[in-house]
Amino acid sequence: MTMPLSAAILKRIAFLCPKRWDRCYTLMKLATDPVYAAVGKELGGSTLPVLDVGCGIGLLAFYLRESGFTQDISGFDYDEKKISSARAMAVSGGYEGLSFMAGDARSGLPEFSGHVVILDILQFFKREEQAALLKAAAARVAEGGRLIIRTGLQDDSTRFHVTVIGDWVARLTLWMKEAPVCYPDGELFRSVLGNAGLKVCVKPLWGGTPFNNHLVVAER
Ligand SMILES: C[S@@+](CC[C@H](N)C(=O)[O-])C[C@H]1O[C@@H](n2cnc3c(N)ncnc32)[C@H](O)[C@@H]1O
Repeated sequence: MTMPLSAAILKRIAFLCPKRWDRCYTLMKLATDPVYAAVGKELGGSTLPVLDVGCGIGLLAFYLRESGFTQDISGFDYDEKKISSARAMAVSGGYEGLSFMAGDARSGLPEFSGHVVILDILQFFKREEQAALLKAAAARVAEGGRLIIRTGLQDDSTRFHVTVIGDWVARLTLWMKEAPVCYPDGELFRSVLGNAGLKVCVKPLWGGTPFNNHLVVAER
């Protein structure tokens, strides 16, 4: 589960994308972003299912399947076009046990118990919406399960400023439906998730990127 996937497998996932732009994006993203392997490592050989909030076109689900993770994975995202792409890719890839549903995480999360993953969406939420989402996510973490979050953290580093620019580029190229509004700090996770009974660890996840990304792992 911890080994990065081979170039041939990354290409196989990318070529499931119906659109040329998504194919190039997927290949670049999977080859350079350390988050998918990091999530795989945190999940290990767990027998619990996974809920991926803000799943986009389902890259985490495909990465985990190709890494040998066999439990059910449910993706949830408010961008219906991305959900349609994820569903089409799951069918053409012949992946079993993957489902993708459309919905706005601001209005609540689906019924679920297992591991919950939230990658790169908190910056679109106001502070009180971030806290509400974290509480809802924590309530869905089963005994022995983890809430795994990747987010840019607000601080006074150059990395933080590069993170903000990256999110604005995603908005201006229309890849994202919204512009960033608020970046969380480490205290938000320690207070909200700690109060929900989870043991919280916040660590940098920079890899070869210029962003101020951190991995938050909260365990029940
Ligand atoms: C930066 S992308 C990350 C995609 C995916 N998590 C990944 O790492 O490959 C952020 C995703 O969050 C989704 N998103 C943003 N706000 C959301 C909301 N309120 N409810 C559900 N999904 C949301 C966007 O549509 C987008 O697909």
